[in-house]
Amino acid sequence: MLTVPISKQLADVMRPEYTRNWLMWCALSIRRTGNMAHVLTLPSPDLASQVTKRYSTTTTTVNMGASNTKFASEADLSKDLTGKIVVVTGGNSGIGKSTCMQLSKQGATVIVGCRRLKAGEEAAEECNAQTECQEGGGKGSAKAMVLDIADHNSVKAFAETFSKNYAKLDLLVNNAGIMNVPTRKLTADGNESQFGTNHIGHFSLTGLLLPSLNKSSSPRVVCLSSEYHNIAQGKKGVIDFEDVNFTTRPYDGWTAYAQSKLANLLFAQELAKRYPNIISVSAHPGFVESNLLKLPAPALVLMTPALRYGMKMIPPWDGVQTSLHCCLSDELENGRYYSQVESPRGTVGGWPTEKEHMNENVTEENARKLWEMSVEMTKVDY
Ligand SMILES: NC(=O)c1ccc[n+]([C@@H]2O[C@H](COP(=O)([O-])OP(=O)(O)OC[C@H]3O[C@@H](n4cnc5c(N)ncnc54)[C@H](OP(=O)(O)O)[C@@H]3O)[C@@H](O)[C@H]2O)c1
Repeated sequence: MLTVPISKQLADVMRPEYTRNWLMWCALSIRRTGNMAHVLTLPSPDLASQVTKRYSTTTTTVNMGASNTKFASEADLSKDLTGKIVVVTGGNSGIGKSTCMQLSKQGATVIVGCRRLKAGEEAAEECNAQTECQEGGGKGSAKAMVLDIADHNSVKAFAETFSKNYAKLDLLVNNAGIMNVPTRKLTADGNESQFGTNHIGHFSLTGLLLPSLNKSSSPRVVCLSSEYHNIAQGKKGVIDFEDVNFTTRPYDGWTAYAQSKLANLLFAQELAKRYPNIISVSAHPGFVESNLLKLPAPALVLMTPALRYGMKMIPPWDGVQTSLHCCLSDELENGRYYSQVESPRGTVGGWPTEKEHMNENVTEENARKLWEMSVEMTKVDY
């Protein structure tokens, strides 16, 4: 492993996930070229522009082995989002945080929904520090708001506070998620934790924010699903309408994750059908390095090369591309599923993904049944 000394000032602008990627994946070169000037090879244009602006440093961007990534278009990534109001659930970490960073950089007002306020405030601070570095001063801004998506009272309080403080909602990114919880746990509302967090909380939130979405001239909802809606570690994605909470059947963490991610996809599809004025799509970001893996740091160091080269794990900037395409493109097909990979372990791209590469349980009938069951479970009827 190549270890490179990073000055305190440079470390300040490195996001932790990038720092880790830097040390583990990157052939990084630092060449002193004068007072406070370095030539750096950096893994993302985002990071490169921050370093360049803040430290009068020359940077070049290289694609750090992520040649398999499908990127959002330059035009979309440079759209002016001034005046747009965005909510990102789980915006303090991983893909959600990268989404907040990019959208605020493009001028949007971004609400970082987070269950840990301090973590949300830190992410919002990073977004704001970044926009302040932009030429012409910062246009976008970010603010953290408490949102525990697994607790209906918290979801309700969030929606009420949001509606009081903001005149409309242009974009809701249903991003927060947990994966492969090893034992059956219940949310505050008594639902199996992965179904409750990944789907039920977002179903309620979207319904409670619907009046705000309807006040936007071009509302949009993006739901983070996963290729694991199909098969998660050998477990087929199925919504068990008789026992969605694993009350009588044996619990399995991957089966529960696959069920919840299939629900994310079906929810986006049904939302588009019921509210065609709202662009509503689901996304698979690729296999992305994030906190979702919940690996202790030493294990991550040991496993990263294998995950990166064997399983095509991609860094956060690459992993946010499908979300950003879904958030920004004017060419989306309403209700569709957009995936970084066309098929499991397959070729790059599936924007949108063809039906034959998706779970056969993605049906109109299942989407309708899931919606009706979710209304019954949450009492949020829309
Ligand atoms: N990473 C991948 O390879 C991958 C692949 C396919 C799909 N996805 C999906 O992408 C989404 C983002 O995941 P990620 O990879 O960025 O993982 P991550 O870094 O672990 O981020 C997940 C975010 O969700 C938040 N969250 C979890 N439970 C919550 C709750 N009850 N209330 C509010 N926020 C909650 C987390 O908050 P804390 O920081 O407080 O835990 C965190 O901010 C997930 O929906 C995931 O299923 C990821």
